[in-house]
Amino acid sequence: LRAHLLVAIEAATALDALDTVRVDALGKQGRITGLLKTLGKMTPEERQQQGPAIHALRESVTEAIATRKAALEKAALDARLAAETLDMTLPVDAVAPGTVHPVSQVMDELAEIFADLGFAVATGPEIEDDWHNFTALNIPESHPARAMHDTFYCEEPSTAGGGFADAAGRATRMLLRTHTSPVQIRTMLEQKPPIRIIAPGRTYRSDSDATHTPMFHQVEGLVIDKGITLGHLKWTLETFLKAFFERDDIVLRLRPSYFPFTEPSAEVDVGFSMVKGKRVIGGAEGWMEVLGSGMVHPKVIAACGLDPNEWQGFAFGCGIDRLAMLKYGMDDLRAFFDGDIRWLKHYGFAA
Ligand code: PHE
Repeated sequence: LRAHLLVAIEAATALDALDTVRVDALGKQGRITGLLKTLGKMTPEERQQQGPAIHALRESVTEAIATRKAALEKAALDARLAAETLDMTLPVDAVAPGTVHPVSQVMDELAEIFADLGFAVATGPEIEDDWHNFTALNIPESHPARAMHDTFYCEEPSTAGGGFADAAGRATRMLLRTHTSPVQIRTMLEQKPPIRIIAPGRTYRSDSDATHTPMFHQVEGLVIDKGITLGHLKWTLETFLKAFFERDDIVLRLRPSYFPFTEPSAEVDVGFSMVKGKRVIGGAEGWMEVLGSGMVHPKVIAACGLDPNEWQGFAFGCGIDRLAMLKYGMDDLRAFFDGDIRWLKHYGFAA
């Protein structure tokens, strides 16, 4: 019996198989348990003769089971450890790191350049009301400039049924801001002059081709102080464009123009030269329009509760996407917002 049991114990390759052997030998109905029970019915002599052998059998089988159990448990643990091993020396799959988008990159550059000139960054809502986007900027309801803006309107004007009201409680239409100029208004209403801010952000017009997307980016500039002249505007723009394009040979041309919120107004062209058939900013072989600007209209200053006889200023508005295209040599604006990594890679904006 002993030999039989020891073979069975060694043959058990799993813990549950070993337990079956144990119950078979030492359980309530087990064979060794059965032998032990026979001791009670024996004569004292028989018991003295057979008792030690039966007890020894029980002990050796118990011990063999314990030894085997420990071995099986160790094997199971070893197998688990082997299965869960991490090989720290294996090469990992490369995860492509994110990079800064050219538009964000240019916004950061603008904030840095203008910070050096003492300008803070201001922001305003992209969902704007008619008053801030148009009226306060001297573009009244019937003004033809409204038609030029291809505005996305959100709601029809209505005071009833929870329509939108402007600052004075008048019914107003909400719209997606068509330029960053309403931030001029918000800043003048919120801050006391002197004011020096830039306001970069998203703007919207219903327009789409290679150089226009319905959503695009502008940066507004605004200075309000005493004795501000067109000379301050020109110097600021020259300094900004030289720093941005990292060239000293930047030439500007101010062309008389018209914006309802500036008087006088000027469109600013920057000179370019041809290098290997491509336009490169710098020099003056040709001109490219980069921004609109002018002296803030007295009516705009007055609409913000300031005295135009005391305070003057200049403002400018510039397409950020266009600046990025010029600086990094991209030729289709729509690709900026496709999220195509191959395009970003091509221009060095993705790893
Ligand atoms: N808001 C004008 C536009 O979007 C640009 C501009 C800003 C012009 C400030 C003059 C002064 O075209």
